[in-house]
Amino acid sequence: MPMPIRTWLKGSASALYVAFHALLRNTPDRCRKDEEMESKHILVVGAGSAGKRHAGNLISLGCRISFVDPRADRLTEVQEKMGIQGIYTSLEDAWRMDGRIDGVAITSPPAFHVEQSIAALEKSIPVLLEKPVCPDEAGAQKLAKVQRDSGVPLLLTYTWRWWAPLRRVKELLERRAVGQIRHVKFVMSAHLADWHPWENYWDFFMASKTLGGGALLDESHWIDLMLWFFGKPERVIASIGKISELKIETDDNVDMLVFYKDGMRVTLHLDLYGRPHEKYIRFVGEQGTISWTVDPNRIRIGREMTETWETQDFECERNDMFLDADREFLNVLNGGSVQTCTIEDGLKVLSVIEAARESSASGCAVVL
Ligand SMILES: NC(=O)c1ccc[n+]([C@@H]2O[C@H](COP(=O)([O-])OP(=O)(O)OC[C@H]3O[C@@H](n4cnc5c(N)ncnc54)[C@H](O)[C@@H]3O)[C@@H](O)[C@H]2O)c1
Repeated sequence: MPMPIRTWLKGSASALYVAFHALLRNTPDRCRKDEEMESKHILVVGAGSAGKRHAGNLISLGCRISFVDPRADRLTEVQEKMGIQGIYTSLEDAWRMDGRIDGVAITSPPAFHVEQSIAALEKSIPVLLEKPVCPDEAGAQKLAKVQRDSGVPLLLTYTWRWWAPLRRVKELLERRAVGQIRHVKFVMSAHLADWHPWENYWDFFMASKTLGGGALLDESHWIDLMLWFFGKPERVIASIGKISELKIETDDNVDMLVFYKDGMRVTLHLDLYGRPHEKYIRFVGEQGTISWTVDPNRIRIGREMTETWETQDFECERNDMFLDADREFLNVLNGGSVQTCTIEDGLKVLSVIEAARESSASGCAVVL
């Protein structure tokens, strides 16, 4: 039976993208170096905290940057502080600029991620997308389909995947350094007022349901890490709520109990009111415990009854994980493939989020 024309067009778009980059990979070395050394022009969509961080890194890696943000003050700030090529108050205006855009980094609030990513992919421009993919699973499915059909790369930046100490933890788990893991505890507790000291926390997108704020969505890093370490769980019980005096309409407390097929249990606590801030994971196995903390920047392994630990300290700084993600994006722009975090990974996180929401609403366990 002949293939419908739309399917053929989508398939051929993907094939064309792949063929073009295969051609680049096969060009003689001298030409390829010129292509790789040519400064890439990246359009950063959202001139807030994450946008400025990626832009600064990409500039340090030799890129040229233009920004989109509806807020004039944000655009003035980046124009004054960074060597910026162009500033635009809307994505539509930015598309009309003269000159090529090699990549788009989407660092706006999550409510805009799907529509903005699709706009770039439909122009065959690779995307770096900040987490979470978007506020709900349906949006993520829609974007994943467009990405698959177009074949244009999308790198999702659940940035802790690039954090050297957590990569080390993953290796330790893979070689069963403390035997079969039976229980894992994730804790992330950080008062929202401390996140962006330059603005009122209630004006920040984290306070807004419509924009995609809240602990569950924004701190879905920890759900992503659970999936990265252990794959898909079997069942989830969750309680998601707003229990502090923070002036926000979003959730500020998440507790989850997650069951895996092999009997392993995971507890996950996220809150937006805790001080001092705390981020840690404890993996309890049959032959000991692996403990990872952000502060101190450390992994410890304990195998004794008493507090006797083998300790490994790390020197890396928070920006290093963003910088490594930006390096991977540049490699993608030069024809490499997305290695560390894909849209499919983001979709899996959203399916756990939806299960947690359902469980919290019904009070029952939800099977994944
Ligand atoms: N990977 C990480 O560790 C990490 C860290 C921080 C933020 N993030 C993610 O980055 C995104 C932005 O967070 P942030 O802390 O930079 O927020 P922010 O509020 O500092 O910045 C968001 C910016 O987007 C702008 N904006 C609003 N609507 C827009 C639109 N329609 N188009 C373009 N820009 C628009 C806002 O004016 C603001 O300047 C979120 O998805 C967040 O989860 C990820």
